[in-house]
Order: sequence, then C-alpha cells, then structure tokens
Amino acid sequence: MDNKNKGMEDSEFHEFFVDELKDIYWAEQHLAKALPKLQKASTSKELAMAFEKHARETQEQIKKVEKVFEILGEKAEAKKCDAMEGLLKEADSIIDDTDKDTFTRDAGLILAAQKAEHYEIATYGTLRIFARHMKHKEVERLLEEILQNEKDTDVSLTKIAEDSVNEKAAKE
Ligand SMILES: [Fe+2]
Ligand SMILES: [Fe+2]
Repeated sequence: MDNKNKGMEDSEFHEFFVDELKDIYWAEQHLAKALPKLQKASTSKELAMAFEKHARETQEQIKKVEKVFEILGEKAEAKKCDAMEGLLKEADSIIDDTDKDTFTRDAGLILAAQKAEHYEIATYGTLRIFARHMKHKEVERLLEEILQNEKDTDVSLTKIAEDSVNEKAAKE
C-alpha cells in the first residue's frame, strides 16, 4: 500500500479487496472481448442476441468497476485472472469441438457462458459483502447492481437452453 495514512485504507482487508477488484476488472475486460466471439458462433438467433446484450452490459459493468476504484481512491488496474482465462479457453475449445450451425454448439456455448457468469456471481456476491463491512455504501450499491445483472444474465441463458436449445440439440 502507498501513502494512505489511517483507517480502513491501510488494512490488509482493504488491500485484499482492491486486489480482488483488479482480478474481476481483468475478467470483465476479457469477457467483453470474448462475448462477440460467442455471439458469432451461436446458431440460435436468440442466443446470439443474448450475447450481444451482455457484451453491452459488460461494458457498463467495466465503467462501474472503474467507478469503484475511483471511490476507493485507487488506480483502476487489471490483474490477470487465471480462472477467467481458463473459462474462456474452455469456451474456445467448445467452439472448436462442435460443428457450426448446430444446437449442440449452442448448448455448449451456454454451458461455457454460465460458468463464466457463475464465477462473476461468486465474486461480486463476496465483494459486495466486503464493501458492506467496510462501510463503503456507494461501492456496495454499485457491486450489487453488477451482481443483479450477472444473475439476470444467468437466468436468461437458462431460459434459452430450456425453451429451445437443449431439445433441438438432443435431436441432432
Ligand atoms: Fe460481468
Ligand atoms: Fe457477466
């Protein structure tokens, strides 16, 4: 830690919190790049639209995470997130291993995307509670908004899988 002179900003908990923010900041930036790829790979129009929507939302989330850094008086910095890197590699291999224009591919893309969403849900769920304990109300609110958006995305992906993709994939 640099120059902060007192209180929570000096604590190890604060430092850990900021470190985890850097991790999710990296994860969001790379997910933002991957989502258009998932969109292009999708067979179902509905799934492609869901990825397009979430790519836009992810850009908004990135801005919110930057706002969190700003409120905390920290520089917005990304630190490589090994977990997200692995999840995105997995998404790439699903694309490689499935045929274009199949619903099996869509089922795989949904699986890969939901793993990423669940990683985000776990991270924001925890960071929001950290913020609460650190009495950073505005930070808690921003993280809560992102968390809700990730949860909504997860629900909409489940819906696409259950309403159409899985059944069509099962017939291929
Ligand atoms: Fe996100
Ligand atoms: Fe997300």
